[in-house]
Amino acid sequence: MKRKSIIDIKEQKNKEPIVCLTAYTAPIARAIDKYVDLLLVGDSLGMVLYDYENTLPVTLDQMIEHSKSVVGASENACIIVDMPFGTYEESKNLAFNNAVRIMKETHCDGIKLEGGQNMFETVKYLTDRSVPVMGHIGLQPQSVVIDGGYKIKGKNKFEWNKYILDAKALEEAGAFSIVLEGMAEPLAAEITSQVSIPTIGIGASLKCDGQILVTEDMIGLTNITPKFVKEYINIRKLIEEAANSYSNEVRNKEFPTRSHTYSMNPTIVKLNKGD
Ligand code: KIV
Repeated sequence: MKRKSIIDIKEQKNKEPIVCLTAYTAPIARAIDKYVDLLLVGDSLGMVLYDYENTLPVTLDQMIEHSKSVVGASENACIIVDMPFGTYEESKNLAFNNAVRIMKETHCDGIKLEGGQNMFETVKYLTDRSVPVMGHIGLQPQSVVIDGGYKIKGKNKFEWNKYILDAKALEEAGAFSIVLEGMAEPLAAEITSQVSIPTIGIGASLKCDGQILVTEDMIGLTNITPKFVKEYINIRKLIEEAANSYSNEVRNKEFPTRSHTYSMNPTIVKLNKGD
């Protein structure tokens, strides 16, 4: 099977909604790969897998190790890897060196970074040097401390101009797509109509060219259920039921049964007796 490329993703704009999910581990990537166009190894893994308060503590090494397992366990989806906080903002050279390290060590298809107009030079530097970049504007989780929380953008029309200019800057810098996070529907619709590259929404309405969710949110493995998350299944409940049944059976000496138990070969038993 040929993996989707960033060109395939770009060409889906105005044709077919782009289906994206996050994946941080091999078992999840293996299960969802064939249903999506793009898998994002998001730095949200810091909160989902490591229980950090926000995404800021996530390191490049963590992103690389998780990305290797996602790339190895998938064959269909285009794989994009988040650049964690502090690994690209300081200079375009730092961003290039870290992006190249991610691509060389993980074999992913591109990287994602947060920011719009402020990242223009960096994104252009990367794309001019063959690093595919997905942008991320609106609610930027890596800015949660300076923003004082996770705040929905574009509810007030006076704010719109900044976000439209952010999206256009990313397009001009050569980004192949843009994540729009936590954004009022009319602003997401306006941005989507004004740029030629696909917009991928998370909490940004049906008006985007595609959608992304954190997989663990949509399968009920995390505690947080923001307004924009739809829980398609509650895996946590299933895990609790399985753990409860196992625990009862172990305590009642009902597990392991004969079918889960190895017996000895009778000849070996005889030999042992003659010892
Ligand atoms: O880190 C992440 O998972 C993300 C998505 C929520 C877009 O950036």
